[in-house]
Amino acid sequence: MNTTDLTEKTENNNAMPRIGDFAPDFEAVTTKGKIKFSDFAKDKWVVMFSHPADFTPVCTTEMSGFATRKSEFDALNTELLGLSIDSIHAHLGWVQNVRENTGVYFDFPIIADIDMKVSKLYGMLQPNESETAAVRAVFFIDPKKKIRLVMYYPLNVGRNMNEILRALEALQTSDKYKVAMPLDWKKGDKVIVGPPKTLDELNDRLNDDSLEKVDWYLAKKNI
Ligand code: BEZ
Repeated sequence: MNTTDLTEKTENNNAMPRIGDFAPDFEAVTTKGKIKFSDFAKDKWVVMFSHPADFTPVCTTEMSGFATRKSEFDALNTELLGLSIDSIHAHLGWVQNVRENTGVYFDFPIIADIDMKVSKLYGMLQPNESETAAVRAVFFIDPKKKIRLVMYYPLNVGRNMNEILRALEALQTSDKYKVAMPLDWKKGDKVIVGPPKTLDELNDRLNDDSLEKVDWYLAKKNI
């Protein structure tokens, strides 16, 4: 590896918001009009996602996936917010083209991030993958505008809508019941109760026959 390679692989001038950070605020033009993120989707969760480019095949399948499953996001009190580094005219043309071809309508705002402002703010522009197109990012943002989960996918691999919905429901269920979610958790499965912090809690746990106990530190319950 020469010095140029090393520079290319380590340089990162973009902000990368992390889990637990408040979502950076911004104003943007979208297919549903102008938004200020701090005023967007009050008291709701937001799933904000980027795609590399309009009128491209993988992106068309992904956006159609968000559109056809929008009612499931609605049921989870969640607004969808798309983004790419394309103009509003390209967005409108693509939305209309997909509607004409397939009947699927992208009925959620898509940010026209032509100046890359939001992409850079959210670390969606990852220059060693592409200098001009956003990677496939997904930000799960709670009603307090805190980032709770982040996914980044490269240009050549589409995301999994089942996993996006599963992760969203897992976050919400974890918050509601103050529990953690095991491998592959899905709605209806048992959840993990937090480990005991005192000997009294440990003894209570050992005597609780309603729990499925693998060991004192790993116990599951129904909710
Ligand atoms: C696609 O969505 O198919 C795509 C977009 C940008 C680069 C590669 C693939």
